[in-house]
Amino acid sequence: MKLWYSPASPFVRKVLVLAHETGVIDQLDLQLVASTALDPDPALSSVNPLTKIPTLELEDGSTIFDSTVICEYLDTLHQGEKMIPEGEARWNALVTQSIGNGIMEAAVGVRYEQALRPAEHQWDVWMNGQFAKIDKALDVLETWRGARIQDIHVGSISVACALAYLDFRHGTRDWREGRPVLAQMLDTFSQRTSMMETRPD
Ligand code: BEZ
Repeated sequence: MKLWYSPASPFVRKVLVLAHETGVIDQLDLQLVASTALDPDPALSSVNPLTKIPTLELEDGSTIFDSTVICEYLDTLHQGEKMIPEGEARWNALVTQSIGNGIMEAAVGVRYEQALRPAEHQWDVWMNGQFAKIDKALDVLETWRGARIQDIHVGSISVACALAYLDFRHGTRDWREGRPVLAQMLDTFSQRTSMMETRPD
């Protein structure tokens, strides 16, 4: 299977961390791609009409995206502890994943605004709105009563990758202030091999 990826993308990292945690990482043939909305990669466009990473290309030529669906697919390929559990825990894990994904979307959106848009056209009001959304989501996660975020499942993986991305691209903002549970969670999570092997440099 070919995974179209960029190491900087938190959505890619979520997929890679899950692949490490489930032991399917060796089945992935990593295809590095640099594609932006301003300069979409034609080869990626030919397999995913949205030209987005991560995209998973299967041996039969079919493709799977987005990161949430790829995680679900990879979780079917192993016999170990499921990252998307069954029963009550399932919905908690999936909603936790959604919150992590939402933080990533907002944080990546601001990153694009800052990196791609000329400074004189950058929209501070919009960026502040994205950061407000991130702060609200972090406050909810700090006292989260759903799936235990310190356990290993698709939700905690998503949150860990979102927090690590905030450090990576928005390191001047101190999201740890007043959020000791999340700070501890990321410290612990970051020591896992899956996180260490997927650090964007
Ligand atoms: C980044 O450089 O932050 C980035 C790259 C690809 C996808 C998302 C984010």
